[in-house]
Amino acid sequence: MAEVTEAAVLAALRSVGDPDRDGNIVDLGMVSGLALKNGHVVFAIEVDRDRAARLEGLRRQAEKVVEAIAGVLSVSAVLTAERKAKGPAGAAKSAEPQGRVQQTKPAVPGVRAIVAVASGKGGVGKSTTAVNLALALKSLGLSVGLLDADIYGPSQPRVMGIKGRPSSPDGKRLLPLENYGIKVMSMGFMVPEETPMIWRGPMVMSAINQMLRDVEWGELDILVVDLPPGTGDAQLTMAQQVPLSGAVIVSTPQDIALLDARKGLNMFRKVDVPVLGIVENMSYFLCPHCGERSDIFSHGGARREAEKLGVDFLGEIPLDMAIRETSDGGHPIVVSNPASAHSKTYRTIAEQVWKKVAAEPRKAPPRIVVE
Ligand SMILES: Nc1ncnc2c1ncn2[C@@H]1O[C@H](COP(=O)(O)OP(=O)(O)OP(=O)(O)O)[C@@H](O)[C@H]1O
Ligand SMILES: [Mg+2]
Repeated sequence: MAEVTEAAVLAALRSVGDPDRDGNIVDLGMVSGLALKNGHVVFAIEVDRDRAARLEGLRRQAEKVVEAIAGVLSVSAVLTAERKAKGPAGAAKSAEPQGRVQQTKPAVPGVRAIVAVASGKGGVGKSTTAVNLALALKSLGLSVGLLDADIYGPSQPRVMGIKGRPSSPDGKRLLPLENYGIKVMSMGFMVPEETPMIWRGPMVMSAINQMLRDVEWGELDILVVDLPPGTGDAQLTMAQQVPLSGAVIVSTPQDIALLDARKGLNMFRKVDVPVLGIVENMSYFLCPHCGERSDIFSHGGARREAEKLGVDFLGEIPLDMAIRETSDGGHPIVVSNPASAHSKTYRTIAEQVWKKVAAEPRKAPPRIVVE
């Protein structure tokens, strides 16, 4: 693979002009913090505060020209509003993260950390991982909530074994439903599981926002969010608007081979959400009869891929009937068989996730607000 050089990136960025001034963003000294690693490119574009809101197009254009360079696997450009643009590009290597321009994502009162479980594509076991992770976090003594953000095909009511509708004693806020000591909110509580749901763009966000903010979560150490599959606009908006402390990427060995996992990763990098690590699901096959292990999908790819991408590898969960039967039956393995090897693995994953989010300082509100 062609090696990507700083010079090549800067040359490409010289084709991007500042819409308000004569000259390109490199020679105007607007590019800073350029970092290259194994084909992944990150940089900041420094702009004045008052222009930030208008320059999303410029940011995208800059990403696009760098994406076109041979050997570039991902590009992430952020707009930073520093007091003053510095000297030429490359010289200023310190894009201060506190200068980042983001949409406001007000915290959810009482909820200490929000962690999304996501994947590049569907059917890889996000919901199964989300529920077992939530239960494993609970078993560590934490207060835990589970938000099923898959409004297209909610699965948590079934997986958590919860039926019923949330009540609203004050007519304004909903009380989440509860099982196994975990508070759960899902669109599946509002509409029967089989009803196909058609959502228009803006409705998606308002549904998620209501499930996040109009629900009496109480005091939670951690809220686990089961995201819908894919990395399209809806998921991106969600990742952008929910104040996430981090994301866990679930992938199967095949999906890693097909690079779908990277899409999930890049989506979070784009919106500045730390990726806490990768879980390899359906990693190998455990025969229910003889207990023999077969690596049907060349397992281990996730660990190598994680290494390559500079992301932590959190653990591997085999393809095992017991996992499917328990979660599809509404009593996930971490509660139905806490002593099993799989439950132990989920607890190890949970410990790592909690260690990472607990170490993070509570998210300060963004300093710069774009109206
Ligand atoms: N490790 C595993 N071993 C056996 N079966 C599994 C495992 N992980 C998930 N499954 C099963 O695979 C199916 C898909 O899993 P799940 O619903 O968790 O995936 P998902 O990524 O949430 O899917 P979607 O993209 O549709 O939301 C379910 O029937 C689930 O029980
Ligand atoms: Mg799911």
